[in-house]
Amino acid sequence: MLIRSRRPWELKASDTTPEAAFRQRRRLLKAAAAAGIGAALPAHALVDPQGGGRPLTNLRDTPYGKGLPLTDYEDVTGYNNFYEFGTGKGDPARNAGSLKTRPWTVRVDGECEVPGEIGIEDILGGIPQEERIYRFRCVEAWSMVVPWDGFPLSRLLARFKPTSKARFVAFETLYDPEQMPGQKRALLDWPYREGLRMDETMHPLTLLVTGVYGKELPGQNGAPLRLIVPWKYGFKNIKSIVRISFTEKMPVTAWNYLQPSEYGFYANVNPEVDHPRWSQARERRIGEGLFARKHPTLLFNGYAEEVADLYRGMDLRRNF
Ligand code: MTE
Repeated sequence: MLIRSRRPWELKASDTTPEAAFRQRRRLLKAAAAAGIGAALPAHALVDPQGGGRPLTNLRDTPYGKGLPLTDYEDVTGYNNFYEFGTGKGDPARNAGSLKTRPWTVRVDGECEVPGEIGIEDILGGIPQEERIYRFRCVEAWSMVVPWDGFPLSRLLARFKPTSKARFVAFETLYDPEQMPGQKRALLDWPYREGLRMDETMHPLTLLVTGVYGKELPGQNGAPLRLIVPWKYGFKNIKSIVRISFTEKMPVTAWNYLQPSEYGFYANVNPEVDHPRWSQARERRIGEGLFARKHPTLLFNGYAEEVADLYRGMDLRRNF
């Protein structure tokens, strides 16, 4: 008998109703808001129903993902994984209102000549919102097409002058159980941690994202800034970052630490390398309905031309 146990962020069989229920609830909330009865609902129920984030200016479109139909804004901002705010897909949108995103500083340290702290305003002010990325986002069995707004992470990191010892980069999310109540439960070894190799980090498609759909990121999507690595599985895209460290050794990462046989350090999207317990060859795109045909998963999520060279000569089955 095949027992298919679920990854922590994967849909349960019983979640199939919740997606429909979730959509129904959204419709109700929208109708309630339109009818002006929002005040009758608990405040958290209306967190950002239409995207309250301030609009971003000077965005420049990129050719990536042009022509792919975008996932609805309400799915992008209402169907999330952010365990610091709960494990249900609707929990982050409901609960992320407790996250304070100003003031916000990011510490950059480790193997670099000028370690230091930088405030979010300086990050945003120093680097124009110059790239608009239509990213084809794939999270194993389910995926979205999201217009993220951000800029290459390398633009920020270069100013800290990494030394030749910097072979990897470690990222950390805020740790504050009062703001992030999910951290009161030992689901993961908090804070959430991720890592990349130095060349992956400095690749122009590795983005520090501050907006989505042309507006500032809402809390549930990792405000005020998060990582997007378009050719990797979703869990690499760490949210609400407060620390970035250059390291000599491969850093510990949240999911790899929890379950190393299932979640590798690289996590490159690859239809040919199955998860130990299921195929990753096809994906279901959120918003297309449960009965829509799945899409074939593309090697490196469709960015092979841009990134395959980073892994030349590596055994991608071992380095999954
Ligand atoms: N970052 C933090 N800090 N905490 C998380 O639980 N979940 C990851 C990733 N980043 C997560 C995180 C996972 S599993 C996924 S699939 C993506 O965020 C989801 O991003 P989205 O909700 O913006 O679509």
